[in-house]
Amino acid sequence: MNQTHNLVVVGLSEGFFRDKFKKAMIATTFRDVILSLGRSEVEPEDVSVRTAVTKERQMKIPFVSSPMDTVTESEMAIALARHGGLGVLHRNCTVEEQCEMAKRVKKAEALVIRDVVTVTPSTTIAEALALMQKHEISGLPVVEKERLVGILTGRDVRFADPSLNVENLMTRKVITAREGITIDDAKELLHEHRIEKLPIIDVDEKLSGLITIKDIILRGRFPDATRDDEGRLLCAAATSPFDLHRAKELDKHVDILVIDVAHFHNVKVFEATKKIMKDVNAEVVVGNIGTFKAAEEAITKLDDVAAFRVGIGSGSICSTTAVTRAGAPTLFATCEVADAVRQYRAGIPIIADGGIKEAGDVAVALAAGASAVMIGNLFARCKEAPGTLLTIGGRHYKQYRGMGSPSARAKRYAIDRYSTPAKGLPEGVEGWVPYKGETALALHELLAGLKAAMGYAGASSVSDLWEKATFLMISQYGEEEASPHDILLPSETERG
Ligand code: XMP
Repeated sequence: MNQTHNLVVVGLSEGFFRDKFKKAMIATTFRDVILSLGRSEVEPEDVSVRTAVTKERQMKIPFVSSPMDTVTESEMAIALARHGGLGVLHRNCTVEEQCEMAKRVKKAEALVIRDVVTVTPSTTIAEALALMQKHEISGLPVVEKERLVGILTGRDVRFADPSLNVENLMTRKVITAREGITIDDAKELLHEHRIEKLPIIDVDEKLSGLITIKDIILRGRFPDATRDDEGRLLCAAATSPFDLHRAKELDKHVDILVIDVAHFHNVKVFEATKKIMKDVNAEVVVGNIGTFKAAEEAITKLDDVAAFRVGIGSGSICSTTAVTRAGAPTLFATCEVADAVRQYRAGIPIIADGGIKEAGDVAVALAAGASAVMIGNLFARCKEAPGTLLTIGGRHYKQYRGMGSPSARAKRYAIDRYSTPAKGLPEGVEGWVPYKGETALALHELLAGLKAAMGYAGASSVSDLWEKATFLMISQYGEEEASPHDILLPSETERG
């Protein structure tokens, strides 16, 4: 938002430093504006919120979860991708742990599982059972020198002597399929033979994959899921720009890498990101940025920006701006970056990150030029978030902490995002948020509110919202009037 204060600063004459007041832009926040009303041609239920999350990837809903250790591990990433959004796996852990999370996302719903867990004929039943338990699977292909020689299912081993070998109990006549089988043909084979698993054999007769009935059923249950080209759930993960090793390891498993740094507009960060971009196949999202200039430099100096993650200091757990008096509120930042993208015809989607409290904020962020929003707080409340659940006076809460908070930084991996220990500055807080239940419920509510807001603004799609929506600035009194007022709400009477 490139407007400057229309206040007349009395008593200030011209001068280099005095001009800083005159040139000060208004750092507009979500609480400062509402959407103005527009002529509606579609009903809210017919509004499409399909959007781009990167240059190459689309989502059915514009929601991305934050890479924070109380928000996104595999469970949240799976839940979001199944419902049409995307989770970004946090990096406050070892590279191996983060890769494991990514593998779980990829395995959650693959049409063809590629890294199949197998046994050999001489594996004991006890070992096979332990593998089934560990990987939460009910059947194991049996291979000898990579060739399929049988299959062991839960039914084969139920009540079996654990000291026996797999070859004593496996089914030897296995129904298989060739590479390239379609989902419909696979369904037919599974049905015809009343089986639940279909091993895939390559031209050398070696086991190359596995199709399971469970995955086919899941595909049907989540038609809106965000998927990769092989039909697996799309997966994104965060990395420090200075951790090339992590980026390369993650690249083996994820579709999107998110460069996770509080202030991306920094010479060293740009150089390090260039190296990562050169070395990985995944799309690379960069951020966080908050100004037109930062976007301009990234557009002109980096070849492959897949999306911008935008906003500095608006997150509900952020203390960056309070501590440093520096930042770029998400709404202001989104407009700045969106104008740079438009001016350069760069076609780079914007993910507005931080400060989303309700559905209307999502609509405002999209109207300001974002393609999607990134959310921490509202998702940390959900069952699938990794934070601890706590009950106080019969009410449930979940732990939520900033990645620059003292306890998150105590795990060394996140330190580089929010200051170094030498600076010793916590840039985030930690606490509790009310428990919400399943992520699906939170998404349902956000979506209903977003579609209603788009209906009021007269927009039938995200790009329609970009073009048509305008803002009304609202005063603090207006903000009070815009919320329920002059009534004692049940929650307040309960508090006494
Ligand atoms: P919400 O408002 O959804 O914001 O809770 C989540 C976003 O906040 C950022 N983040 C931080 N910012 N100190 C900060 O200044 C922190 O400790 C911190 N942790 C997360 C991040 O961009 C996230 O997506």
